[in-house]
Amino acid sequence: MAVSDFLLYCFISALPGPPGVSVDNAYVQLIPINKHKCPKIDPVRDISFQLYTRHNPLHHQRLIIGDDEALQKSNFNFSQPTVIFFHAFFENSMSLTATIIRTAYLQRGDHNIILLNAPRLEAGPWYLTAARNTEVVGRYTAMFIDYLVSRGMYLPSLHLVGLSLGAQMAGVCGQNVRSGRVTRITGLDPAGPLFKKWPKNLKLDAGDAEFVDVIHTDAGIFGYPTQIGHVDFWPNRGISPQPGCTIPEVKRRNPDAIIEPLFCSHWRSYQFYAESVLNPYGFLSVACNSWEDYTQQKCDPNQVTNMGFAVDYNARGNYYLRTNRESPFSIDTSARPEYSSYFNKR
Ligand SMILES: *[C@@H]1O[C@H](CO)[C@@H](O)[C@H](O)[C@H]1NC(C)=O
Repeated sequence: MAVSDFLLYCFISALPGPPGVSVDNAYVQLIPINKHKCPKIDPVRDISFQLYTRHNPLHHQRLIIGDDEALQKSNFNFSQPTVIFFHAFFENSMSLTATIIRTAYLQRGDHNIILLNAPRLEAGPWYLTAARNTEVVGRYTAMFIDYLVSRGMYLPSLHLVGLSLGAQMAGVCGQNVRSGRVTRITGLDPAGPLFKKWPKNLKLDAGDAEFVDVIHTDAGIFGYPTQIGHVDFWPNRGISPQPGCTIPEVKRRNPDAIIEPLFCSHWRSYQFYAESVLNPYGFLSVACNSWEDYTQQKCDPNQVTNMGFAVDYNARGNYYLRTNRESPFSIDTSARPEYSSYFNKR
């Protein structure tokens, strides 16, 4: 890299800006910030960790690597499981996505929920830079996890959840944790563009945690096209348009939507997951070789598990299910023949 390039990027990175605006739940920035070219991280500005618990469901407490006082003063409960959520491209920790995931967990009331916040590094429309920055964010979050473990967090009680580019960050993060192996990573429609050609150390794969579960809803467009976890769920075939996501349907629900018609199917992944946090047994899925076999009821109805929160960590391979067109997405599977033996057993 040329010296002038380095100086330019570092100068931009050091600015309190660059100026950005929020449009329709998205964060757009004038200039990209490339952490490969200027890797210095200012945690307060570039990558931060925001803790929410049932004691502070609306206002976060910031946790910082090495800041024991902040951790002690916070409501972090070492006896409860911890979830770290990685937001997507164009987003930040205040986006609807992160808010819906956070609210679902806080309604349960039994988790430390930590939202990663890196809007400057994941700002639109700079997809290439945002995708490349996922490595830096993932590695930095791994250091944060090692810090929490050094202060008493039980690593097996940690679960990483990431949406789109955030799923790829979670993969890099899991792979770089030094204090042990992360138990579970959930990838919500992991980002597809660019990543298909990138090596495993830059993206989510089954090697990044003891158990990796993936929900595909826009495979081949914004989402990753193929199976990458220990278990991969393909609701409504895993592709666009998901039920309720055709452009006329989106426009009927929300005439002002600009971005939603494009992202509706991609976003279904986190909507299904958030619903599963509150309705853990609402997304019963069947192991199958293909969607065609599933629709023709050729798969083994004994091999079922729940998509999302209550997935069986022993499940392996591809699972299929259907959902409703609108929230609540969970359908009453007890009436469906492909699940009959499961319900007969109960
Ligand atoms: C921490 O979590 C444990 C286990 O759920 C609970 O018994 C305890 O009351 C919690 N502590 C606080 C301060 O909320």
